[in-house]
Amino acid sequence: MSGQDASGSGPTDGISGLVRAQVESLVGEYRLQVENWKSSENSHLLQNLLEQELDGLSNLQIDRCICFGLGRLTPSEPRWPGDTMENRIIQSRVVMEQLVLLMMVLESLRKVHPIHEVYFQDPLFTQVDTLFLESLGCTVLQDPEAMEILTGTTFVFAPYHPNVVVADIFKICEPALYLGANLTTVRGGEIDTLGGDVMEENTLSESARERRLEKFGAVSTYEDNALMTAMPIFDGYYWSRGLCLYWQG
Ligand SMILES: C[S@@+](CC[C@H](N)C(=O)[O-])C[C@H]1O[C@@H](n2cnc3c(N)ncnc32)[C@H](O)[C@@H]1O
Repeated sequence: MSGQDASGSGPTDGISGLVRAQVESLVGEYRLQVENWKSSENSHLLQNLLEQELDGLSNLQIDRCICFGLGRLTPSEPRWPGDTMENRIIQSRVVMEQLVLLMMVLESLRKVHPIHEVYFQDPLFTQVDTLFLESLGCTVLQDPEAMEILTGTTFVFAPYHPNVVVADIFKICEPALYLGANLTTVRGGEIDTLGGDVMEENTLSESARERRLEKFGAVSTYEDNALMTAMPIFDGYYWSRGLCLYWQG
């Protein structure tokens, strides 16, 4: 049986009043951003992209979403030496922006795809982050659980996730849909001004080339066979710039 906590504000389920207040504050901020998105041109831009330009999208089979590396929504303790409070506040804004983008993409996708489960994995999540994401109906997984439930019918959202972990995703499967950093840069290539791949293969030794192939070969194969479009420039959504959407053609 659960009792009341010292403040008398709720059951003693191990969640402090401060944590609850922080979760509520995140819920408020999230709702406000979603409302702003829906009443803005961003909403039309995204809908056009998903419903009109990506012709084949409705042919894909997508039944779950996994988000890797969203980052912390709460500017709590330093993440590394020299990590200032100012940095952490900016970072948490970036993360909320990326979360809202993901939820808006999901809202559009759900018109044609039965995406019931949405999972998040990031070793940096705090208790507040986890409770907040759970309050949105999502499931938070501990590393490496997300890798264990990846399938070819997954929509992967990986907003600037470490490249080596992105490489692991593609070694496991070819996700139906992938939204994340440009895959040419993920596998160590460079994008020239015309958008072509100018990866300096020739400067690599044979063994270095083999190591890269071993690590990023599956990313290259996926990239070569997928269709891709860059996210449009959404008003106020600075951190979604440069994210690219890939899907099986
Ligand atoms: C460069 S940060 C990106 C954070 C945020 N999305 C952004 O764009 O600023 C990379 C994130 O990946 C997370 N990460 C590292 N290894 C991971 C793993 N194995 N699974 C999920 N997330 C991971 C880190 O904790 C960090 O939050």
